[in-house]
Amino acid sequence: MSHAEDNAGTRRDFLYYATAGAAAVTVGAAVWPLVNQMNPSADVQALASIFVDVSDVAVGSQITVKWLGKPVFIRRRTEAEIADARSVPLGDLMDGDARNFNIGDAPADDRNRSLDEAGEWLVMMGVCTHLGCVPLGNAAGDFGGWFCPCHGSHYDTSGRIRRGPAPENLHVPVAQFVDDTTIQLG
Ligand code: FES
Repeated sequence: MSHAEDNAGTRRDFLYYATAGAAAVTVGAAVWPLVNQMNPSADVQALASIFVDVSDVAVGSQITVKWLGKPVFIRRRTEAEIADARSVPLGDLMDGDARNFNIGDAPADDRNRSLDEAGEWLVMMGVCTHLGCVPLGNAAGDFGGWFCPCHGSHYDTSGRIRRGPAPENLHVPVAQFVDDTTIQLG
């Protein structure tokens, strides 16, 4: 094998591991630094798109992927979670903004936060809007969504802040389905 071929092989291996690393699951409630930089500018996002295969995500479960150095929650919600999220009067919400970076300013209606019309898929930055911890998921907290144990912030099944010190709903990053089972972030 020539030196050039050898290098090509090494490079392929590197790309494979880099891709696998991007989908690594993050658990726990580690403090996430740089919370005030959690929404990178559009040009940075354009350079840093990743594609996530969600074909193995069962209804009622979520995966966490790492994107731009931060965790992103991708949850496939149950019918009950969707119904819960969509029945909350907007007047009951602490933060009335959808915080969805796909659409700009919009009311925090669940339809303005879910990725698809039916509301089965919810994609959010896994960064508490208080001081940047990673909230616990899978129906955690008093509202059946996510719970940040650092200072007790409860988020509902749409990732909206309902109780505790966090000032904003969990942010929805730029994301879209590019085919039936692949979500593009960024
Ligand atoms: S960082 Fe989440 S409640 Fe304080």
